[in-house]
Amino acid sequence: MTSIFEILTKLEEPLKNLRIERVERLEQAQIMREIRNLGRAGFTSDGSEITPEQQNAFWEKNQDTMIAFVYYEHNTARPVAYAAVLLREGKYWSTNAVHPDFRGRGYGKAVLYHVVMACPRDVWAMALRTNTASIKEHNPAVWEVIDDPKEPLLLFHTWKGRPPVLRCARTDNPCFGCGEFKGDDPTKCPHAHLENGVCGRKGPV
Ligand SMILES: CC(C)(COP(=O)(O)OP(=O)(O)OC[C@H]1O[C@@H](n2cnc3c(N)ncnc32)[C@H](O)[C@@H]1OP(=O)(O)O)[C@@H](O)C(=O)NCCC(=O)NCCS
Repeated sequence: MTSIFEILTKLEEPLKNLRIERVERLEQAQIMREIRNLGRAGFTSDGSEITPEQQNAFWEKNQDTMIAFVYYEHNTARPVAYAAVLLREGKYWSTNAVHPDFRGRGYGKAVLYHVVMACPRDVWAMALRTNTASIKEHNPAVWEVIDDPKEPLLLFHTWKGRPPVLRCARTDNPCFGCGEFKGDDPTKCPHAHLENGVCGRKGPV
């Protein structure tokens, strides 16, 4: 049986090929725009082309509350993807896109997981029911599906408010770092200590 640690390690694996930049300047937000426009048909809110001026306005409005990253290929320095969480009415909502040249290599799942881990709170997401790649990048180890058949969009929420962020009390490595626990439920490991992203408290599970 595959452990959660193995699942999360595999999710993160593609990040090794990428240089990660936190978005802190308008120029980086414009790179987000370029990647976003190339995949605009997949988005739930607005499928139209975003102009540089519109992105300026987006940046002005969101720069203090959003957490966003742009990811570049190490070898070529080409922008591969962006991922962001945006604060809307008290909830963080994720959004991401991968440049068409780099799709299907696990980058979508990896950057989405990365931005979720960088977010101090639980994250919500929506996907078009027709967008299979977007639905599947929400890995079940991290996300629960909240499926209301009456709603046109599929809703996701990080499990129990946060994906499992566990550390091994023995080694202080990520959970299962001591190699003594082989099950698929990290909360059952006697050494597991939960890093609670909501309140910042570390404590026994
Ligand atoms: C959605 C998107 C980010 C996925 O990026 P990606 O790097 O291609 O995705 P991954 O390689 O991580 O694959 C994620 C999952 O989708 C599947 N997938 C990828 N492309 C697919 C496709 N065209 N059709 C069906 N499934 C696909 C993969 O097999 C994988 O599933 P698995 O975990 O069962 O193996 C990318 O397609 C994209 O940028 N789309 C346009 C923008 C968008 O729709 N953003 C999401 C809305 S916020």
